[in-house]
Amino acid sequence: MSAFPVPAEDELDALATATRPGTVTVIVPTFNEAANVGELLARIAASVPSHLPCEVLFVDDSTDDTPEVIAKAAQDCPFPVSVIHRDRPDGGLGGAVVEGIKAAASDWVVVMDGDLQHPPSLVPELVAVGESADADLVVASRYTKGGSRAGLAGGYRVAVSRASTWLTKSLFPRALRGISDPMSGFFAIRRAAVPAGSLRPLGYKILMELAVRSRPRAVAEVPFVFQERYAGESKSTPREGLRFLRHLVELRTAAPLARLLVFGLIGLTGFVPNLLGLYVLTQAGMHYLPAEILANQAGVAWNFVLIEVFLFRSRRHRHWADRAGRFALLANADLVLRIPLIAVLVGQLGMSVLPATGLALLLTFVVRFAATEALVYSR
Ligand code: GDD
Ligand code: MN
Repeated sequence: MSAFPVPAEDELDALATATRPGTVTVIVPTFNEAANVGELLARIAASVPSHLPCEVLFVDDSTDDTPEVIAKAAQDCPFPVSVIHRDRPDGGLGGAVVEGIKAAASDWVVVMDGDLQHPPSLVPELVAVGESADADLVVASRYTKGGSRAGLAGGYRVAVSRASTWLTKSLFPRALRGISDPMSGFFAIRRAAVPAGSLRPLGYKILMELAVRSRPRAVAEVPFVFQERYAGESKSTPREGLRFLRHLVELRTAAPLARLLVFGLIGLTGFVPNLLGLYVLTQAGMHYLPAEILANQAGVAWNFVLIEVFLFRSRRHRHWADRAGRFALLANADLVLRIPLIAVLVGQLGMSVLPATGLALLLTFVVRFAATEALVYSR
């Protein structure tokens, strides 16, 4: 007779389910990685233990034969491999990852690049750490003890990576607490913790998008060494840098007050073309009054462009000429209305000139912001 109580059959089953490290979908965004995907699948197969239920899902925007190469390599894989090929590649790398997350049905999603800069041997560890630390998000980090960015070619890319990490962490100190490498493209996340519907990915930085918008309950990190690319070249372009800045502004200005602030900051930079225009026109012999009016248009145009590109990019519903006209009208109305408003504050309410001017500036600014949102960037 056994000295220990033997658990019944169904109790054993329950135990096995409770300690099983969840099912895993490895999501790999690919853009022309035909020379890498075979080796990637082989290394994932060599890394994932047979008791871990795993599948690999490629979300592919390639114009080369990457999907065919994947299909061929998949025949030698001990786990299911599938490919979603997108004909309309919305949102770039980040859009591809979100599409994969929406399609996945597993407990855990691991996101990794297709060029072997992310060591596949870490896939099981990311999930295991998530399970044991009861975390929603596990980040493979280059910037925690034991990690490194060995494969980041060139001083220029290292400097850019440092600066963008610093900028991102300063803009989102709370959401990114505990994440030393918010630019990493290698991480595991519990699918249930992802509010897939409210994500609006824009380019490369999908981890930043996920961490800021989904505010995962608990975060863990695992160090990793960023490897050299296996074959081919990075698909990142200079445009990707601009996209990253737009992504930052979009995330940071989700709240109206933050938008008001950015609107004001952009407005302040408008002084530069305004004064420059005034200088050029008066130097050219124009009377200063018409020069003021013309130069003001230079500031308005400058502000319009910046606001279009950075602040209201996703709200450009009207025709651009319509938006430009409305924007210019509001900006000039602001100037025209300020003087009578100051006259009322001083003449009727008895304020002195300086505070009255300050208050009028503030009021017309807030009204112009609200009117710009409601009249220029509405549907
Ligand atoms: N589906 C899809 N669509 N995949 C894309 C796209 C796209 O538009 N652009 C790039 N990819 C895929 C690539 O094929 C590759 O598998 C992965 O995304 C990463 O692209 P790379 O071009 O190799 O990126 P990287 O090495 O410059 O940057 C990586 O490291 C950075 C850290 O230095 C990425 O992981 C970045 O997110 C990360 O910040
Ligand atoms: Mn790469």
